[in-house]
Amino acid sequence: MNHSATNHRIPLSDGNSIPIIGLGTYSDPAPLWATDHIPELVRPALERTLKGLQLDYVDLFIIEIPMAFKPGKGMYPRDENGQWLYHKSDLCATWEALEACKDAGLAKSLGVSNFNRRQLELILNKPGLKYKPVTNQVECHPYFTQEKLWKFCQQHDIVIVAYSPLGTCRNPSWVNVSSPSLLKDELLISLGKKYNKTAAQIALRFNIQRGMVVIPKSFNHKRIQENFQIFDFSLTEEEMKDIAALNKNIRFVELLMWSNHPEYPFYDEY
Ligand code: A2P
Repeated sequence: MNHSATNHRIPLSDGNSIPIIGLGTYSDPAPLWATDHIPELVRPALERTLKGLQLDYVDLFIIEIPMAFKPGKGMYPRDENGQWLYHKSDLCATWEALEACKDAGLAKSLGVSNFNRRQLELILNKPGLKYKPVTNQVECHPYFTQEKLWKFCQQHDIVIVAYSPLGTCRNPSWVNVSSPSLLKDELLISLGKKYNKTAAQIALRFNIQRGMVVIPKSFNHKRIQENFQIFDFSLTEEEMKDIAALNKNIRFVELLMWSNHPEYPFYDEY
């Protein structure tokens, strides 16, 4: 199959399509964020983003996390005792505000991120649902393959956008480093040798061959180029199975600091 970064896109259930690889941009301040979940704040947040990007619309507008935070006190609001200032989440109401943004022509497609099955079902089963989420952006890589969530999403025509497909930057201040480094995995390295690729390219290829979008983050020019050179080889079915068997079912990105939020998504099995 002729996969290339420019010609390979995945169809979305709303008739649009998404490139199979994108640039991870984590660490950029997000003008949309969980402090803007209240419906009346959603459109102004998107309009700020559009102004910053000098665009009339975005291709994809997502709810970044299902946990709402108190509006108006910065991105990560805390009280004077250092406790997080949460806000009651009403995911369906937030979703309706996203739908209004699409109707206004400010976004072509709508999606979510870090949603578990229950939270996806909340939206999918919402009375009067106008637009289904077309993507769910979640951590996914050979050590955390998301098999069950992936199957559920496939059944509902929701494309998985895999964040941290290379296993994160392994900064112990916020990353769970109890799993070993993904890019030092012997199988990924040996398959890399076979195809004259790096372990990173094998990990990315694994996800795109499963039909997922990957958004590896790199701020290094050479590694960004490397990450896009994954369209000139294919892993065999056997190799795909061997890589899937590396799954440890342990997240690198647990977001444990917010684990007492009522909508913390990672207690459920998937
Ligand atoms: P760098 O920006 O220095 O390239 P994430 O899992 O959140 O997408 O983060 C990916 C991490 O992997 C970043 O720390 C990034 O660092 C690093 N990285 C990105 N591409 C490669 C690559 N091809 N080989 C090795 N490390 C990579």
